[in-house]
Amino acid sequence: MTSPTTDVFDITGKRALVTGASRGIGRAIALAFAGAGAHVVAAARTEEALKETASLAADAPGKIDILATDLRTPESAEAAIHSAAETLGGLDILVNNAADDHDSSIEKTDLAVFQRVVELNLQSCWVMTKAAAQYLKDGGGKVINIASVLGLVGMLDNSAYIAAKHGLLGVTKAVALEWARAGVQVNAIAPGFVDTAMIGNLKEDEALASYVRKKTPMGRAAQPEEYAGPAIFLASPASDFMTGQVLVVDGGYSAQ
Ligand SMILES: NC(=O)c1ccc[n+]([C@@H]2O[C@H](COP(=O)([O-])OP(=O)(O)OC[C@H]3O[C@@H](n4cnc5c(N)ncnc54)[C@H](OP(=O)(O)O)[C@@H]3O)[C@@H](O)[C@H]2O)c1
Repeated sequence: MTSPTTDVFDITGKRALVTGASRGIGRAIALAFAGAGAHVVAAARTEEALKETASLAADAPGKIDILATDLRTPESAEAAIHSAAETLGGLDILVNNAADDHDSSIEKTDLAVFQRVVELNLQSCWVMTKAAAQYLKDGGGKVINIASVLGLVGMLDNSAYIAAKHGLLGVTKAVALEWARAGVQVNAIAPGFVDTAMIGNLKEDEALASYVRKKTPMGRAAQPEEYAGPAIFLASPASDFMTGQVLVVDGGYSAQ
């Protein structure tokens, strides 16, 4: 007999699409889901890196299929949902994780950069969530939006990213209410600094590493794998009475 404590985190056989799964947090979540017995479609632009993600799950109880696509345009974002649902035979879990960053003041940021960031980090998440409705509502599903502490507070020189992440938390709350009685939970994770390509190279850039240590109460960046547990929680029955919420996993950053 299995213990009830274990069962609440069970996602065996669940069908999940994880975007931005060619590296970083998305890869860690895709591998965790496959390790927990889910069937995953890992999406991103770089086919070789996606193949590596899939090969890392070769011995897992679940499985990872790949989908090489640029999710920036609404057409490709919508097509990705239908393609994943066809591969998986439905869709139970959507993880909107793919994102882009920029690093300049508002005066130095071109409108084109603002649009590029918002198109991927906000618009494509909205489009994919909308396209996933028909699948997620068929038996109850989960949407997990990977936002940021920069969806809660500001920071210097990152206005497009910050606008998009604040918007993503707005979408999380709004769609959670719309789907609350349809058995679909919509929640977000807000990471703090994570040791991925997005923030740069912490091993080689001592100024960056020192900034991250100083800004984070726990004195370090997270590793991508530290988002596996929070994602499994939000994908599993353990979070069935939780919707429209943000799980902040930031080493204490936002508690300051
Ligand atoms: N790292 C941090 O400190 C941090 C902090 C807070 C929040 N976050 C959030 O966590 C999430 C994951 O970030 P990360 O740190 O893991 O970043 P990352 O290592 O840069 O990974 C980003 C992922 O998104 C994919 N991607 C980028 N542009 C894409 C596009 N146009 N179409 C499809 N896929 C695309 C990338 O793959 P391809 O290049 O192969 O397309 C990659 O798999 C993001 O939402 C980010 O905003 C990160």
